[in-house]
Amino acid sequence: MAKISPSLLGADFARLGDEVIDTEKSGADMIHLDIMDGHFVPNISYGPAVVKTVDRLTGLFLDVHLMLSEPEKYFEAFAKAGADAITFHIEARPDPRPLVDQVRSMGIQVGLSVNPDHTAEAVLPHLELFDYLLVMSVFPGFGGQSFMPSAFDTIRAAREYISSHGLTTEIIVDGGVDSGNAAEVVAAGADILVMGTAFYRAPDRAALVQLVHGL
Ligand code: DX5
Ligand code: ZN
Repeated sequence: MAKISPSLLGADFARLGDEVIDTEKSGADMIHLDIMDGHFVPNISYGPAVVKTVDRLTGLFLDVHLMLSEPEKYFEAFAKAGADAITFHIEARPDPRPLVDQVRSMGIQVGLSVNPDHTAEAVLPHLELFDYLLVMSVFPGFGGQSFMPSAFDTIRAAREYISSHGLTTEIIVDGGVDSGNAAEVVAAGADILVMGTAFYRAPDRAALVQLVHGL
C-alpha cells in the first residue's frame, strides 16, 4: 500500500482551516508543508505560525519540507510548531550528517531531499541516517509543475540501495505527481506520494486517496 501526503501549497488559502479538516477526512496519511525562504528557491511560502495552526486543527502527521539555505536555524521553530518530521536538502548541506542529531534531539523524524539535478549517488551513502528520502520530481519552488521522468532513475536507485542494505528509509516523491503517473511512481519504488495540485483540485479527494492506497 502506498501512502499519500497532500501538499498544503495546493489548498485554497482563503479556507485553510476547512482544507486541513477535509484533508484528514479524505483518509490522507499525512500533510506535506512546503517552507520556502526566497533564497534556496525563488519563492516564499509560509512559516512556523501556519504550521502551528495546522497542527491545532488535525492529528495528522506533519511532514515539513524545508527549502531553506540555512535549514538548521529553523529546526527548533518548526519542531515546536508541531512538525513530526523535518526534511532538508542535500543541496543546502552537502554534508548532512551533523544536522541529523539536531533534528532527532527534538524527538521528531528526519528526511533528506534531493533536487532533479543531482543523481542518487549524492544521497545514497547518507540514507542509513534518515527516516525519509524526498526525491524531487520538479525543481522546487512552485506547485503545479510537470513531473520530470528523470526522477525515475533516482527513485529506482534509492529503492535498490535501501533494499540491498536492509534500511527502513521510506521514499517520498514530490512534484507533479497525479492519478495518471502514481502507479508508475510507486512501481519505481516510492512509498509515499506528495500531491498538491492533484489532491486539492481532485473532484473526489477520498477516491484519490483510495487509488493511492490500492497501489
Ligand atoms: C515544490 C513543492 C511541492 C509542491 C507539490 O516546490 O516542494 O511539494 O507543492 O505540488 P504539485 O503536486 O502541484 O507539484
Ligand atoms: Zn515539497
